[in-house]
Amino acid sequence: MAEYMLETQNLGIQFGGLKAVQDVNLKIKKNELYGLVGPNGAGKTTVFNMLTGVYQPTTGTFFLDGEELKGMTQEAINRKGIARTFQNIRLFNNMSVIRNVLVGLHNQPEYKYSPASAMLRTPAFYENEKKMRERAKEILRIFDLEEERNNLACNLPYGKQRKLEIARALATNPKLLLLDEPAAGMNPNETAELMDQIKFIRDNFDMTILLIEHDMKFVSGLCDEVTVLNFGTTLAQGDTQTALNDPEVIKAYIGG
Ligand SMILES: Nc1ncnc2c1ncn2[C@@H]1O[C@H](COP(=O)(O)OP(=O)(O)O)[C@@H](O)[C@H]1O
Ligand SMILES: [Mg+2]
Repeated sequence: MAEYMLETQNLGIQFGGLKAVQDVNLKIKKNELYGLVGPNGAGKTTVFNMLTGVYQPTTGTFFLDGEELKGMTQEAINRKGIARTFQNIRLFNNMSVIRNVLVGLHNQPEYKYSPASAMLRTPAFYENEKKMRERAKEILRIFDLEEERNNLACNLPYGKQRKLEIARALATNPKLLLLDEPAAGMNPNETAELMDQIKFIRDNFDMTILLIEHDMKFVSGLCDEVTVLNFGTTLAQGDTQTALNDPEVIKAYIGG
């Protein structure tokens, strides 16, 4: 077991002449709820894109549970244990709610079966399908989505679609879950529920969570520690209350 679940060392990326992110050093302990905050355009989503192999960093590197993942493809990084949600929801819209979660479960070794057993529809195949559906229902229940499991994902209200996306990411059984503005567009009621649901995941799935969020009450109420980015650089870092009350941070938010 490494000291940190996620460690980035001077992580940075340049687009053309623009240094979008510079020297980001995150140290996130196992089971921590960690916030990445900052004004629009600060580079938060770009950090997620580097951590998931969407973009290759131009400087620095990063480690998941002690293993260097820089340079790996999106699929390889996901298999190593980083799952994410997107600022703009990405679901399989024309699949049922439960199917979206089953897709996440399918790539896991404990639910693998041989192609022959799938083709011949052996008892082992049905047994496995049943186990997967039970697990999917369990995950949907956390987000109060079990009743709607047979509806099409696109017919869910917006707030529930956001929750389904988290459920799907969780189904891949990651070590680290990255949530990009999970509460965006939710009403206060849904946001309050989401806070409880995120805490539940952290406690019951032994999960480490890094989240981007604009709602400061949300961040204060959930995160043990935060990193504040502004124009791609780190403005403040550490204990949530201390970092959010830093005069430089307050200035950046008022300025933005
Ligand atoms: N593929 C890209 N090409 C050029 N510039 C990009 C690209 N992706 C992000 N950027 C730039 O990086 C900066 C940070 O963007 P982003 O990470 O989306 O900010 P945030 O999520 O904090 O609002 C912005 O100036 C954005 O225009
Ligand atoms: Mg963003």
